[in-house]
Amino acid sequence: CSLKKTATNTVFAQGVSESRLMFIGEAPGAEEDRNGVPFCGASGQLLDLMLSHIGLSRAENFYITNTLFWRPPGNRQPTQEELDICRPFVEKHIALVNPKILVLVGGTATKSVLGDSRGITRLRGQLGSIRVEGQDYPVLPTFHPAYLLRNPSAKREVWDDLKQVMAELDRLGIPRRKESQ
Ligand code: URA
Repeated sequence: CSLKKTATNTVFAQGVSESRLMFIGEAPGAEEDRNGVPFCGASGQLLDLMLSHIGLSRAENFYITNTLFWRPPGNRQPTQEELDICRPFVEKHIALVNPKILVLVGGTATKSVLGDSRGITRLRGQLGSIRVEGQDYPVLPTFHPAYLLRNPSAKREVWDDLKQVMAELDRLGIPRRKESQ
């Protein structure tokens, strides 16, 4: 992927892959490119804060990555070609992590992973599934935290989505910290 040429670091993933709770975002931004860590800038901090309220942290119980492993110059939107080049790696990543819940963070991740042309506003909050290497994985699309930073009123919908994640985790017996609810 030619994005590698302009990026400072490869930004692969962070968190506990064994937790079987996987988040996939769009692409690294400037902060992520500098540090080589996904979602470590402003939008990642908001996502972490929201997830901490349902007892989730990268150190303990979730795993996070992106549909692209290199920052598009100037934070432009990834092209379809770039997404298509990286998609087999994203699929292999999903198969290796074998998530019991896969949260797609934002419209680009949702479009790329689900291959559904309906927009994120239509798809968010709807538990669906994708088939990767012959196995079905439950997926839940939600809004991107960068969108929430621009439109704080949309946090209401993301809380509804996170309540679904919480209910699924509890139903599946995936541990999370309960005292922080
Ligand atoms: N936005 C994303 O989608 N991913 C990151 O890692 C950072 C910002």
